[in-house]
Formats: sequence, C-alpha cells, structure tokens
Amino acid sequence: MPQQSTEILAATAGGIARAAQLLREGRLVSFPTETVYGLGADARQGEAVAAIYEAKGRPSFNPLIAHVHSAGAARRYVQWNDVAEQLAAAFWPGPLTLVLPLREGHGISPLVTAGLDTLGIRVPAHPTGQALLSELDGPVAAPSANPSGKISPTTAAHVIAGLDGRIAAILDDGACGVGLESTIIGLAGPEVMLLRPGGLAAEEIETVLGRKLVQRDAHDPLTAPGQLLSHYAPGAPVRLNAEAPGEGELFLGFGPVECDLNLSESGDLAEAAANLFGHLHRLDALGRPIAVAPVPEHGLGEAINDRLHRAAAPRD
Ligand code: TXA
Ligand code: MG
Repeated sequence: MPQQSTEILAATAGGIARAAQLLREGRLVSFPTETVYGLGADARQGEAVAAIYEAKGRPSFNPLIAHVHSAGAARRYVQWNDVAEQLAAAFWPGPLTLVLPLREGHGISPLVTAGLDTLGIRVPAHPTGQALLSELDGPVAAPSANPSGKISPTTAAHVIAGLDGRIAAILDDGACGVGLESTIIGLAGPEVMLLRPGGLAAEEIETVLGRKLVQRDAHDPLTAPGQLLSHYAPGAPVRLNAEAPGEGELFLGFGPVECDLNLSESGDLAEAAANLFGHLHRLDALGRPIAVAPVPEHGLGEAINDRLHRAAAPRD
C-alpha cells in the first residue's frame, strides 16, 4: 500500500472535525476508546474497510465491531430487543459489544461482518471517541489499531510505533483507561452468550440480567467467533483458480475476464475485498456451482484467498 504521512490530530474541535472529514473520505483514522485505540473506517464504505486489513497486514477477514455514538444510532443498523435495551441502558457508553441481527436497509459493508447476518456494535465511553462518532453521525468499523499479531495499543505512541505511514491520522488523547478490549455478548440467538470476556466483568452483566450468561462452547462453530467464518460457505461447490467456467458453472472473475460478477475488473485488491462477500452471496443465491478466477497472493490477496479457501473447503 502507498506510504502516506500520518497526521497527529489533537483532541480539539478542529482535530475531531478533521478526523471525521477523513473518515467521510474513506481514509483510516485511529481514535481513542476507553478500552484500546481503534483503527477506524466508515463501515458503509467497503474499500475503506478493506484498507483496515491492508494497514494491519491481517491475513484473514474477521467480523469487525461497529462503533456508534448512542443506542439510538445503534438501532439504525440492528434489530433491537428487550435484552439489548436492558444492557444498553445499564452499560452504554462503555466496554460492552452486543451482537445482534442486522436490520433491513442497514447499509453496512458485508466486509465489516465478514458476510454474517449479525453485527457486533458498541457505544464507546471515551469522550474524544464519542465526539468523533457524533460528528460523523455514522458507523465506524474498528479493530484495535495494531499490526496483525502485535499487542493492542493503549496510547497514541503505540499506534504510531505500529502504523505510522500506513494510516491517514491518529486522534491523540492520551492513554486508554480500561486497557482491555470490550466484553462481547451474543444476543442474536435464543440464549444470552458470553462470546468474549473483556473490560466489563461478566458478573456485572449477570447482576443486571438476573441470570447466568451462557458460556460459548469453543467447539461449536456457531458460537466460536474465530470459526464463525468457516460456517459461511455457499451452498453449491466452489472451484478455485479457474481460468474459465466449466459447463453449468457461474464465474466469479478478477481482472479483465468475461464473467458473471467481477471482484475487480482493474485487478485492484481493495476493491476485490470490498466486493468479496456481497458477490459470493449473490452468486450463491443463483444455486449453481461457482468457479473463481485466480487472485494474487500478495497484500490483501492473502485474506481474500483465505476466505475463498474456506468457501471452497469440503463440507459434511
Ligand atoms: O474494545 C474493543 O472491542 C476494541 C475497540 C477498538 O473497540 N475492538 C476490538 O476489535 O477488540 P477486534 O476486531 O479486535 O475484535 C472483534 C471481535 C472479534 O473477535 C470478532 O470475532 C467479534 O468481535 N465479532 C465481531 N462481530 C461479530 C459477530 N457478528 N458475531 C460474532 N463475533 C463477532
Ligand atoms: Mg485486536
């Protein structure tokens, strides 16, 4: 990815307005939350979300958390329910992420959810993060702002050490208070599930709910976040590195080829990443086997190929 000069923005009205403007332009901005510094992109812009993976050098697509300024804003994107209302009232803003079904017309890029029909969403408590989200008045997808495999950053200096030159700006407001990622609660199924322990103690949540959380079973592919993805695969067989479609196959192209849908005609990997899940869903809906053109292994191509390999893996 091209080297850029990373702006260090102060936590002032001017710095926050600049950060919001960069996000609107599809650029990456690191911002403070009470847990850790996030690496933010406008969650409605697929190529901006793809750039998160490029900047982090992350070799696989995970679902990302969307950050919003209020519970009211969260309800624009997810199907709300009574437990969500109860937890939001008790703990938002704060280090709690709720996983809920996406609602119709949500506008969130499928790359944020890695093709799932649920969204992890949270309202961070940090005043500067809050101010940025209010200024943008839109959803910001953000994993922790560290290169893949490195420790999560709790100061702007940590972010600079890892990502200087790879992102547009850092909104600097000192050290994060919690220093531990948010607790993730799954509310998309019949049970209230603890998907990831984090900065908000499970006991506190249980006290508010008046019942025990269901612990996720690491062997259950429907509840283990890392494995959620292998669960999403098209119904029909997928054949990789195809130069052309065979008889009866749909063709998912890359580069200047004749095909049913193209990940990127110009061979742009960020565009291909942004299109990946949406295109797979659309071809899957046609119910025929899918052949996929070769995608190069460099840069974002690694994560794209990881996902394609899972989609093509033999299933029971
Ligand atoms: O404190 C935090 O949560 C920080 C700050 C920046 O907000 N963010 C963070 O993001 O820790 P990340 O990308 O490192 O972790 C996101 C986690 C992943 O483990 C992912 O599997 C889970 O959230 N997740 C996100 N969406 C999900 C979904 N729809 N279903 C299940 N798990 C989901
Ligand atoms: Mg992380």
